[in-house]
Amino acid sequence: MLDLTRGHLPSHLTSLARCYGSIYRLRCGKTTMVVLSSAQMIREALVKKWPDFAGRPHSYTGDLVSGGGFSISLGDYSEEWKMHRRLVHSALQRCCAQSLHAVIERQALTLRQVILDYKESPVDLSKDFTVAASNVITSLVFGKEYNKSSAELQRLHDCLNEIVSLWGSPWISALDTLPLLRRFPNPPFSRLLKEVERRDELIRSHLQDCKVSQQIDLQNQVVNGLSTQVHMAVVDLLIGGTETTAAWLYWMVAFLLHRPEVQFNVYNELCTVLDSRYPRYSDRHRLPCTSALISEVLRLRPVAPLAVPHRATRDSSIAGYFIPKDTIIIPNLYGAHHDPDVWDDPNTFKPERFLEDKGASTRALVPFGGGARLCLGESIAKMELFLFAAYLLRDFQFLPTGNKTSLPDLKGVASVVLKAKPFHVIVRPRP
Ligand code: HEM
Repeated sequence: MLDLTRGHLPSHLTSLARCYGSIYRLRCGKTTMVVLSSAQMIREALVKKWPDFAGRPHSYTGDLVSGGGFSISLGDYSEEWKMHRRLVHSALQRCCAQSLHAVIERQALTLRQVILDYKESPVDLSKDFTVAASNVITSLVFGKEYNKSSAELQRLHDCLNEIVSLWGSPWISALDTLPLLRRFPNPPFSRLLKEVERRDELIRSHLQDCKVSQQIDLQNQVVNGLSTQVHMAVVDLLIGGTETTAAWLYWMVAFLLHRPEVQFNVYNELCTVLDSRYPRYSDRHRLPCTSALISEVLRLRPVAPLAVPHRATRDSSIAGYFIPKDTIIIPNLYGAHHDPDVWDDPNTFKPERFLEDKGASTRALVPFGGGARLCLGESIAKMELFLFAAYLLRDFQFLPTGNKTSLPDLKGVASVVLKAKPFHVIVRPRP
């Protein structure tokens, strides 16, 4: 009997994989789930046999939060969904090519100023990272950036975070597995419905504002008239693109506090290769230590540790095992990234591993999933992680606030996004 509410589900599912193998089945009421915990099996299902596993599970509550299945992330695989995803993807690609680099650079410099203003006092950077990541997305979708104290931004984030956290709670998921419970009062569910309504109102008013100011960067790229799809695409990008990037930056700082010599090597590399200028994304191939740091943090703490559940669209197989239609597939990315058959010393933070054996280790890295459901923001995220990390490490040294006991906890808290527990850090400007 598996308690799905227990502390760190990805690490629990991973320990089950060490007992039962990299593919095993779980029963949850009438639902059968298959958990995949190796990169090879995840690739077989998501990439090689993508048409068989590109579905999303239907659920009562999922339909309510995704505007009746209109979101890209929760919508099931269909011709209409494919067209929706393709449109948003090509709009994002155009934004990436035209303006993304400049948007991220601007946010990295704003973040720099915010950090300078702390004047080396101990700070928790979580909110600053969220604002920076969020502004990249709001620039793309609303043509607008906010500052940390913006009540508008705060309202939007509080609402989206509340929806993600309520939707992941056992009180709500029980309604999907036990329909009878829908007849009884359920205060968390009533709150979820209210928050969804509030989200829709907020997004409608933001979209209206940017229509008025004619700054609809992303929307102009998508066709006019698909209002529900545009609305839900905005929700997808805001939810998918904010907490993930912010959580990754927070993890990076947490790990660097534990291994200051890695921070020093990256700083040295940035100074030597770039002289005194700021990095550009095209510099990444000449900055192997910086790239290795990014990969290692993505490996140890894939911020979407269990991806998003997939559904088998037809009878198929994985690793020779029969998988019936409608089986739910959980790609355990966290498990794949801690697979002892692939990674030496899998629990240790060692960016050097990516310098030693680049090809093999890169193939075993699946932080963005793969195939038809590959993270829609992968290229945006990669540029963000690189530029934010390189700007921060070029300009600042991250120091612990006290002795070893003050170092951040590295286990984290796992919900839909895997986050580090709150910690403080001293940030010293480099000379
Ligand atoms: C889906 C990872 C950043 C938008 C996903 C999935 C993963 C993931 C694992 C699920 C794939 C699957 O279902 O198999 C990450 C990581 C990020 C990141 C590690 C950063 C460190 C972003 C950003 C955006 C974004 C910046 C938007 C700009 C989405 C969307 C989906 C998604 C819309 C749903 C795709 C679909 O169902 O077709 N992401 N993501 N993500 N991500 Fe990301």
